[in-house]
Amino acid sequence: TKAKMIVDKDFTIGEVDKRIYGSFIEHLGRAVYGGIYEPEHPEADEQGFRSDVIELVKGLDVPIVRYPGGNFVSGYNWEDGVGPLAQRPRRLELAWRTIEPNLFGFNEFIDWCRKTGTEAMMAVNLGTRGPEEARQLLEYSNHPSGTYWSDLRIQHGYKQPHNIKTWCLGNEMDGPWQIGAKTATEYGRIAAETAKVMKWVDSTIELVACGSSSIGMPTFPEWESTVLDLSYNEVDYISLHTYYGNRDSDTPNFLAQSMGMDSFIHTVIATCDYIQAKKRSKKKINLSFDEWNVWYHSNEADSKIDPWSIAPPQLEDIYNHEDALLVGSMLISMLKRADRVKMACIAQLVNVIAPIMTANGGAAWKQTIYFPYMHTSIFGRGTALVPLVTSPKYDSKDFTDVPYLDAIAVLSENQEEVTVFAVNRHLSETLPFEIDLRSFGSCRIIEHIVLEHDDLKAANTIDVPDRVTPHTGGNAAADGSKVEALLGEASWNVIRLK
Ligand code: AHR
Repeated sequence: TKAKMIVDKDFTIGEVDKRIYGSFIEHLGRAVYGGIYEPEHPEADEQGFRSDVIELVKGLDVPIVRYPGGNFVSGYNWEDGVGPLAQRPRRLELAWRTIEPNLFGFNEFIDWCRKTGTEAMMAVNLGTRGPEEARQLLEYSNHPSGTYWSDLRIQHGYKQPHNIKTWCLGNEMDGPWQIGAKTATEYGRIAAETAKVMKWVDSTIELVACGSSSIGMPTFPEWESTVLDLSYNEVDYISLHTYYGNRDSDTPNFLAQSMGMDSFIHTVIATCDYIQAKKRSKKKINLSFDEWNVWYHSNEADSKIDPWSIAPPQLEDIYNHEDALLVGSMLISMLKRADRVKMACIAQLVNVIAPIMTANGGAAWKQTIYFPYMHTSIFGRGTALVPLVTSPKYDSKDFTDVPYLDAIAVLSENQEEVTVFAVNRHLSETLPFEIDLRSFGSCRIIEHIVLEHDDLKAANTIDVPDRVTPHTGGNAAADGSKVEALLGEASWNVIRLK
């Protein structure tokens, strides 16, 4: 049977905030050292930034990058990473049990962002520290001059303020693994007080409060409710994190997991709006899905790494074709709630559960998940349109009525193009797909990009970096305002129309 989607200009979900195509660099594994920063590498620039990696990041057009963690931030002293290199301390890093050499820090990250054409989303430490250190970092970062911290920045060689607009109030504070984990009440209070003084330093910033570390946390969604009750007026966004895996090699169930993401988003929106109603407030809290991805391939290898080395290969998932399909569906899930999901960060960007891999001293290449992320980031900006979809369905271990077709359409910013992103979750059958573009008049296909592979477990490696790579030979054909395509089994599709 056939899948069908009606796309109408007048049925809009909302503007796509480009920041949903954000990413994340944590001081973890080889994300920084050996990833974005490797002074000895032949491609390193004068600051030690790998220019081959910068080029691959530019290919994704990443609008914002969260930094410096993650779990790392909850034990981090930002002052360790600024000023003369020779004076920077080496520290035991307790979140990932490594040694942090502090050769790369806040200012280097900002320079890297400028060179890469992205913005920083900074996280402050609310694990071992509090409002005092957060306001000092903000003063160092954003205050023009004439105070202790702003003048210190100038002394460090940065005359102009960095003007960082987006700040995360800690990381996963509900998780027992977090340095300085807190109850919802403890966190809600410190988040509100930190937010208050940070906005006194710079009233133009936006703040993200920590939501639950996953939908599976025992305190979800009571955590969101309590935290927002205590900080509603002070914060602007609440965070969501989720990681999926295919540990039992049950691919139909694995590919259905984006439906769990849909309900996670739905419940967090409902909780935000419940607190809005309770407060009789006009303000809406939006969502920052600031950690999401597939993460499971590296779990076993990580359990064998000895502690206290510098930049060991941690969380180095090698992604395969089916992972790219789920990543595509997760992007579709966020676009479906473009009205409320205003920021998101694929976790992470380089080497650590990342679309980009490097070898120390060697090559850099694209993992399979690079492609759906790139396609949506490039072609998925504008207005998200309501996906009126009918599709044949299946049941999996954890989900019922899973549509084989997962799809969304985005009208471009200049309103001249429509792009349909579509996953066929069927593993062995092609899916006939009809798109009814009734309000668009006569359409033509610009291109139909397809990511497909016979082997769901096929991955790109240093030796064969292009085993899984998209092609533009998709079969979508337009006839007036109708488009017909036969979506390949287990495929990711980008149908661009004019
Ligand atoms: O992205 C890896 C880790 O996952 C982050 O440090 C943490 O916030 C989450 O648990």
